[in-house]
Amino acid sequence: MPWKRQRRVPRLAAALNIEDLRRLMQRRVPHFAFEYVEGGAEDEATLRSNRAALERLRLLPRTLVDTRARSVRTQLFGRALPAPFLIAPTGFNGMLHADGDVALARAAAAAGIPFTLSTFSTTRLEDVASRAGGRLWMQLYVLTDRAIARELVRRAAAAGYEALVFTTDANVFGSREWDRRSYRAPGRLHLRTALDVLRHPGWLAPLVRTGLPRLRNLEGLLAPEATTALGGSTLIPKFVDASISWDDVKWMREQWRGKLLVKGILDPADAERAVALGCDGLVLSNHGGRQLDYCVAPIEVLPDIVRAVGSRTTLIVDSGFRRGTDVAKALALGARAVMLGRATLYGLGAGGEPGVRHALSLLTTELDRVLGELGCRSLDELDPGRVRSTTAPEFPPPG
Ligand SMILES: Cc1cc2nc3c(=O)[nH]c(=O)nc-3n(C[C@H](O)[C@H](O)[C@H](O)COP(=O)(O)O)c2cc1C
Repeated sequence: MPWKRQRRVPRLAAALNIEDLRRLMQRRVPHFAFEYVEGGAEDEATLRSNRAALERLRLLPRTLVDTRARSVRTQLFGRALPAPFLIAPTGFNGMLHADGDVALARAAAAAGIPFTLSTFSTTRLEDVASRAGGRLWMQLYVLTDRAIARELVRRAAAAGYEALVFTTDANVFGSREWDRRSYRAPGRLHLRTALDVLRHPGWLAPLVRTGLPRLRNLEGLLAPEATTALGGSTLIPKFVDASISWDDVKWMREQWRGKLLVKGILDPADAERAVALGCDGLVLSNHGGRQLDYCVAPIEVLPDIVRAVGSRTTLIVDSGFRRGTDVAKALALGARAVMLGRATLYGLGAGGEPGVRHALSLLTTELDRVLGELGCRSLDELDPGRVRSTTAPEFPPPG
């Protein structure tokens, strides 16, 4: 009988790649929590095309290069970065693991990379700073009550956060329909979802001790019912502000002395404007396919944005990155680093802090191997010549 390439769900230490961690997390957390992480907006076309766009790109190796002494180290804003990764801001991390934000931040600190804390974190930003340390960045949503942004910026500066990341692509909240199906009403699970929770005692037990996760950063700033993480994603749409504009970027630049990045840039003209307003970096992102559906993939527009502003700013890219080869492609096309969203969340759901460490170690090892296979010794040797697109021209050339 021929061998079947069926994969059993491995234990954490035996997980060979991010997909193994995804499947392990799927088994360990209730379905509603898995769906919250996994889902994209509406038809999930953006979600799928983030992967498809990366898969269309092929790598062109050079051969017979001595690559024994190779390294994946780089520099970010003048500081050494052991590998070209950052952990992306993700809200409601306490739904995957009782101490989710701290577990992610500690794993990032151990790897020497920045961790970005979401406005919708389930741990206070001050507690993440005192319990995890490391390089901390703060992500900011500007909500309808502008006093909240003012307060978060003040607190992040006081707690020593080194960068502020202004997320601009959630001015109107995306509709993640699979996520919404888990709730009967804001904060209320369907009976079948509640029964599924009971079937995951390993996930539930720590929550019985610590209580249900809450949006701790926003306690005292939003109404108490809006800070419950269960169903928060159904309540938050009411608080996002469709009026955010470039004036908010100007305001942030005046308030914030540290590094300022705008997240959600995809258009070269917007990139130009952000740089002109004094932003230190841009995160090219479509929010991992959770906002606008049928949106371009950041990797597709990266070359245009490099042409527009590449020499004047620091470009970070995210959305769909799951392999070392994906990271090599983005770096070759001009990104300085990649933000990891679901890749590290799968690690968190699969095994808390050790799971996140495992995810980071897998990606670092993969990138190091890819670098060698490409005949490169350092990330600086990755250039656009290493990447080929498999896409046929959309229209035949004239003549
Ligand atoms: C569960 C989840 C929650 C997220 N929450 C936030 C958030 O609070 N703020 C933010 O700027 N982006 C948020 N994002 C988007 C991520 O920062 C990042 O852009 C995205 O996950 C990258 O795509 P990937 O998951 O395919 O790597 C979230 C993404 C996920 C998957």
